[in-house]
Amino acid sequence: MGLNFKNSGRICVLDDEKSFLTAAKNQLSKYLPGISGFFISKPDEAFEIAAEDIQTIFIIDMNLGDANGMDIYRRISQITKKARVIFITGDAFFLEDEEIRRQTLSEGGIDFVEKPIRWHEMAIKIQNHLRLLDYQFELEAKVEERTQLLIHADRLATVGTMVSSIVHEISSPLTFIKANQETFLYAYNRSKDRITDPEALRVFEDYIVPGVNDSLSGISRIEELLKSFRRFYKREHRISENDMLSIISEVKNLTYYSIKKYGISFNVESRNNCTYSIKCNRQELIQVLTNIVNNAIDALESTQPGSREIKISIDRIDTKIFITVSNNGPAIPEKDMGNIFNPFFTTKGEENGTGLGLAIVKQIVKAMGGDVEVFNRTELKNTVDFVIQIPVNQDPKDAVQN
Ligand SMILES: Nc1ncnc2c1ncn2[C@@H]1O[C@H](COP(=O)(O)OP(=O)(O)OP(=O)(O)O)[C@@H](O)[C@H]1O
Ligand SMILES: [Mg+2]
Repeated sequence: MGLNFKNSGRICVLDDEKSFLTAAKNQLSKYLPGISGFFISKPDEAFEIAAEDIQTIFIIDMNLGDANGMDIYRRISQITKKARVIFITGDAFFLEDEEIRRQTLSEGGIDFVEKPIRWHEMAIKIQNHLRLLDYQFELEAKVEERTQLLIHADRLATVGTMVSSIVHEISSPLTFIKANQETFLYAYNRSKDRITDPEALRVFEDYIVPGVNDSLSGISRIEELLKSFRRFYKREHRISENDMLSIISEVKNLTYYSIKKYGISFNVESRNNCTYSIKCNRQELIQVLTNIVNNAIDALESTQPGSREIKISIDRIDTKIFITVSNNGPAIPEKDMGNIFNPFFTTKGEENGTGLGLAIVKQIVKAMGGDVEVFNRTELKNTVDFVIQIPVNQDPKDAVQN
C-alpha cells in the first residue's frame, strides 16, 4: 500500500550492492508512488543529482568500498543546501561504533538506520523529512518576501524624510515668488490707467501680464504637488473619513508628470455622480492607486500616442466601494496573470522594476478587509482592468492578515 503523499522533493539511494538497490526501488516505489527516485551505485552520480539543487533525501550506505558515506555527505552538503541524508549500514563495525553514529548525526545526518531496512518505516521517515524540507523552504521564502517588503517600506520612510525637507526648501522661496507676482499684478492694475505710452501698455497687456498669470498658475501647480508629496509621505496610520474623488485627484497630482509626458487622457467616472465617502488610511489607499496607475502608464508607453487612456471608475454596492482602474494598453499575457501580484514578479527587467508594486497593493488592500483582481477585457473595449473592492468602513477586525 502506497502512502498517499504529494511533494516537490525526491529520493536518492546510493549503495554499491545492486540487489539492495533493486529492493529499494521496488519497496519505495510501492510505499511512495508519487515520488521520483534515483537508485545509484556511484558517488559521482550523487554529486550530479545534488547539483540540480532540488529537495532530495539521500539514503547512503556508510561503507561504499573505497568511499565513505560521511565524506560523500560532506561533499553533497557543500553542493546544495537542499539535501538531507539518512545513513544506512549493515556493517557491524559502524553499528557498534557509537562515536561514528554520533558524528554522522551531529554533522547533519538525519538518521542512522540498520540493515535490513524496514521499508514501510523508512518510507514514513522519508515522507516526514520531505515535508519538513518543504515547510522549511516555504518559511524561508516567506521570510525573504516579508524582509523585502519591510526594506521597501523602510526605503519609503527614508524617501519620506528627504521629500519633507525638499518640500520645505522649495516652499519657502515659492512663497515669496508667489507674493512678488501677486504684488506686481496688484500694482499694475492700480496704476495701469496712468501709463500713457500705448506701446508700453501693449507690451504689458500682451506679454508681461499674461506671463505673470502663467507663472502664478505654474506656482499653484507646484504648490498642489508639494501638498500631495507632503501628505503622501507623512506616515499616518490613522483611519479617517475620506472622499474618494479627493484621493483620486491626489493620485493624479502624483502621476501628473508622466501622464502629461505620454499624452495620456486621465478620466474619472463616478456612477451616480456622488462623492464616495470611505473610512480608510488615506496614504495607503493613495499608494495602492498610485502603484496601479504607474503600471498603467508603463503599459501605455508601448501604444500609439493619441489614444492612450486611463480611467478610474468608482461604484458602491451595499457596504463596499469598487474602484476600477483601466487602461487601453496591451493585455497581460495569460501565463503572467497568476504571477503579477507575487513579490519580485516583473517583466520590466531589474533596472526598471522591482516587482513589488502589486505585491504591496495586494497586502494593503487585504489588510483593509478588501481584495484586488485583474481582468483582461478583450470583449468590447480591450482594456486591462484592476478592480479593487474595499469596505466603506475599515474595521480592524475585518483585516485579513496575509
Ligand atoms: N496595467 C498593466 N498592464 C500590463 N501589465 C501589467 C500592468 N500592471 C502590471 N503589469 C505586469 O505586472 C508586473 C508586476 O507589476 P508590479 O507593479 O508588481 O511590478 P513592476 O511594475 O514590474 O515593478 P515596480 O512596480 O516594483 O517598479 C509588471 O512587470 C507587468 O508585467
Ligand atoms: Mg509597478
